[in-house]
Amino acid sequence: MSNQFTIDGLVVPFKEGESIMDAALAAGVYIPHLCHNPEFYPHGSCRLCTVNVNGRPVTACTTPASANAKVENETHEINTRRRLLLKMLFVEGNHVCPACEKSGNCQLQAVAYHCSMLAPEFTHFYPRRQIDASHTETVIDFNRCILCELCVRASRDVDDKNVFAISGRGIEAHLVINSPSGKLRDSAFHSDDKAAHVCPVGAILPKHKGYDVPIGERLYDRESISLVGDVAQHEEE
Ligand code: SF4
Ligand code: FES
Repeated sequence: MSNQFTIDGLVVPFKEGESIMDAALAAGVYIPHLCHNPEFYPHGSCRLCTVNVNGRPVTACTTPASANAKVENETHEINTRRRLLLKMLFVEGNHVCPACEKSGNCQLQAVAYHCSMLAPEFTHFYPRRQIDASHTETVIDFNRCILCELCVRASRDVDDKNVFAISGRGIEAHLVINSPSGKLRDSAFHSDDKAAHVCPVGAILPKHKGYDVPIGERLYDRESISLVGDVAQHEEE
């Protein structure tokens, strides 16, 4: 059979046009990721899914699977690189895990546990960011945004609204809301929109149901992300 490749020695079949990520996930092989969601066109921005293919680093979410490729996913070198990326993400925002409503249901936190990133290494930036609580049903805490663009893609491609965008570059990059005031209340956003349900961290949160499930009993408190997958798949639990 030619439509197959190996990940860390395990044989993985793929369909023509499928990415390494999608083929791996379909075969039950977890490749850490944050900006990937199979419902949307891949974006390739977080770089967490970087694997070695025939010795070269590539992002698994944007690289098509190819016959007989040798993919390395869980090596010491790759895991070290992933921990570095995660540490940078944690210091670039204000992630207060112990007090965060999303703790235990947060993909950033869960991937960090999976990659054995248990403590920060770099000095925190402590950026000054706002919270937008103007909308009646949804709150946005910009402190936790990791710029994955999932809400941007969902709003543009599914909701047909373009409520969200990323503005600025590099360390200045930040999420903005498309409305006359810049507030969510004055945008076309609705809490039933797809964009309201895709955030992998605690940046876009529903109001009126805080701390529904006690900490310790939440999705990633019960099982590793490598077994249960993306938080968006379990949104209604
Ligand atoms: S608000 Fe959430 S979904 Fe949107 S870019 Fe930030 S982290 Fe991603
Ligand atoms: S999941 Fe591939 S770059 Fe983010």
